[in-house]
Amino acid sequence: MNKVEIIGTGSYVPSKVVSNNELSRMVNTSDEWIRTRTGIRERRISQGEDTSDMATKASIEAMKSANIEAGQIDLIILSTATPDSFIPSTSCIVQKNIKAVNATCFDISAACSGFIYAVDIGAQFIRSGRFKTVLVIGAETLSKIIDWQDRNTCILFGDGASAAILQSGEEEDIIAIHTGADGSKGRALTCPAIPVSNFYLKDEITLNKSKVSMDGKEIFKFAVKIMVKLVKLLLEESHCSLEEIKYIIPHQANYRIIECAAQKLGINTSKFYTNLDHYGNTSAASIGIALDEVYKKNLVESGDKILVVGFGGGLTYGGIIIKVR
Ligand code: ACO
Repeated sequence: MNKVEIIGTGSYVPSKVVSNNELSRMVNTSDEWIRTRTGIRERRISQGEDTSDMATKASIEAMKSANIEAGQIDLIILSTATPDSFIPSTSCIVQKNIKAVNATCFDISAACSGFIYAVDIGAQFIRSGRFKTVLVIGAETLSKIIDWQDRNTCILFGDGASAAILQSGEEEDIIAIHTGADGSKGRALTCPAIPVSNFYLKDEITLNKSKVSMDGKEIFKFAVKIMVKLVKLLLEESHCSLEEIKYIIPHQANYRIIECAAQKLGINTSKFYTNLDHYGNTSAASIGIALDEVYKKNLVESGDKILVVGFGGGLTYGGIIIKVR
């Protein structure tokens, strides 16, 4: 079986910063409520850039950091809940933008676990020998599916993109990986698509608005439980101890979720790398943005181990232990 190396990462967020105070002028909320309930201080919101635009910028940065040309990429996997269009796929638009003319392209949908799912799929293509170089992307323009009148959800999310280059190589950088889903809890976080409407249906169909709705408490409980379970499972699978992990990079949803998980694991929250105070929850982009920051800030060195763990709509979940090269 071929070994999988993570040879580069990149990320991009829009330049427009929207503070909690700005949101409190749109809905009945306050900076104090948002900070104490979530840890979020501000988020980045697109002023016109779509998912493919942000994904393209993150991908170009990942290619630079991996020192590869676009023509070397065999496969592009893009995870998003907010594609530019149904057709073409957002990965095909990115392929055109970066001129990755040799790449097979497809999108996947796993909400906030999307980056982990995409790495898992990309790694399998490399392990089997089918492809050598894979561009994995998590990108979201969540601002286009948020109901900006719903204070329960609009305070949580932000826009952004992240990317990583996986390549077949001498060393194994992915030392444990696990993904899963519980579709029975899917109603806890939804965003409807187009309902069935054709010449067999006589009743006039009112188009549902494609906006996010969420049972925050249900997600909170699920998130804490699954994060603790995944951390234990990944450590067991890789025969690692928590002490050997330099950083845990969680999906950046809510600081209180991270605090509860840390408490249940009996560890300090300082072990968790967070940036949700600046970006909010960027769904499929969140873990990759945080991972890129950890690398770019030189917070890790060769041989260190990072555990990434996520959960999201579906409900989906997943985690990886990465050995830093
Ligand atoms: N500002 C002020 N008050 C608010 C706001 C707001 N933005 N939002 C809700 N409230 C009110 C509620 O209406 C409620 O008022 P009531 O008691 O009069 O009914 C009160 O605050 C308490 O609401 P709760 O829902 O109990 O607040 P809670 O402490 O559970 O926090 C939150 C809500 C922040 C959404 C929390 O449940 C949470 O973070 N859950 C996880 C959500 C999440 O991470 N979702 C995304 C994960 S999946 C993915 O990433 C796609």
